[in-house]
Amino acid sequence: MLRGTSFFLVASTLVGTALSAALNSHIGTSQLFERSSLLSSGCSTSGQTSCHNSSSVSNLCCFEAPGGLLLQTQFWDTNPSTGPSNSWTIHGLWPDNCDTTFEENCDPSRAYTGIANLLTSNGASDTLSFMNTHWVDINGQNEQFWEHEWATHGTCMSTLVPKCLPSGSVKGAEAVAFFQTVVKLFQTLPTFTWLENEGITPSTSKTFTLSQLTTALAAQSGGFTPALDCESGALNQISWYFNLKGSIIDGTFVPINAPKAGSCPSSGIKYPPKSGGTSVPSTTSTAGGGSSTGAPGSLPSKATIHAINSSGSSIGGLLSLGTWSTQTLATYTLSGTTSSFTMTSSKGNCGVSGGQFSCGSGVSLTSFSAVSSGGNLLLASGGSTAFTSDGVPTGSTVFPVFTGSNHADDYTLQIVSA
Ligand SMILES: *[C@@H]1O[C@H](CO)[C@@H](O)[C@H](O)[C@H]1NC(C)=O
Ligand SMILES: *[C@@H]1O[C@H](CO)[C@@H](O)[C@H](O)[C@H]1NC(C)=O
Repeated sequence: MLRGTSFFLVASTLVGTALSAALNSHIGTSQLFERSSLLSSGCSTSGQTSCHNSSSVSNLCCFEAPGGLLLQTQFWDTNPSTGPSNSWTIHGLWPDNCDTTFEENCDPSRAYTGIANLLTSNGASDTLSFMNTHWVDINGQNEQFWEHEWATHGTCMSTLVPKCLPSGSVKGAEAVAFFQTVVKLFQTLPTFTWLENEGITPSTSKTFTLSQLTTALAAQSGGFTPALDCESGALNQISWYFNLKGSIIDGTFVPINAPKAGSCPSSGIKYPPKSGGTSVPSTTSTAGGGSSTGAPGSLPSKATIHAINSSGSSIGGLLSLGTWSTQTLATYTLSGTTSSFTMTSSKGNCGVSGGQFSCGSGVSLTSFSAVSSGGNLLLASGGSTAFTSDGVPTGSTVFPVFTGSNHADDYTLQIVSA
């Protein structure tokens, strides 16, 4: 399989969920949070960065080698149009060697089939549902596309070799971790939104210079230049480059500049619109039109967090421990921007761990974003505004708050300036 061709491009799938909202954060040396607690690598993320070692590293379970140059590749497909009209789609995550050569198909004995079933049976159905909208094949053969990406690239990752996994891990657990990591990493790289924020939107007539595009993307990503590939003079693929500290399973992706340019010419680059795709919520959608709470950068520093059920009724909100109740709401302190911020309450740091939101002295901060929707500012974790609990509180009852929609009662959380 050749890279950068459109053979395995994406197919359009209707999107009906807020899950797909792209995170609009600068690339940070971001640890990837919130994946299912299925696997932990046990690897430190404070050790050596891949491709930056000065002597040979022996434990390749916690140090990605030889493929320590990681590319998160995304497609912009318009012929035919595939995926949401306002999002690039996932191609994959590739482990290139530090000198940009690469290996492929490293372990045919682990070329798993039935990726969708593997994900579902291992508690990763949230990842699968995101893949169904954002990691899609041009011929509708998503399953084959995912199998191909895993077999071709995932099996070459040293930190995903089965002997590196905790004992008792099920067969295929490392592939589940691969797909979870790719989705999480992609959600931190909202190429469409970053271009849009710099005034670059798809057009049937406009063309752009390569430096216009890379300058815009560097400005939005925190200074990192991706590689851009073109087909027939039109933008078709982007590669965001990283080194890694720790394991692919739960390591820290360290963004770097692309070590080589892509195939796009220096000028006259087209960025054609997709046709017929469904738009997904993004941080720049302004459905409410002109509400001040929706403007980028207008994150309040103090806020209460209100729960809105799927019929639009406001029912209580969050207490200081991060639980849902109809009692007097806590005041949260928000630090950062709508693209990426952290929260604390009087009880301590707030974060999502194992899919549960909480605040307290032992809690690690995780990043949130705020999505403008209908004039409201909604809290998003991992790009998703969906939250869920096992019941609806009344009186003095409180319920733990989970991300996603796997529990009985679904709601969104509205950030209200205090
Ligand atoms: C870094 O470690 C890898 C894996 O042990 C090794 O192959 C490579 O040669 C090392 N690089 C240097 C510069 O020593
Ligand atoms: C939302 O809350 C209102 C008011 O409590 C209730 O009538 C409605 O049934 C709720 N909707 C859902 C979907 O639970």
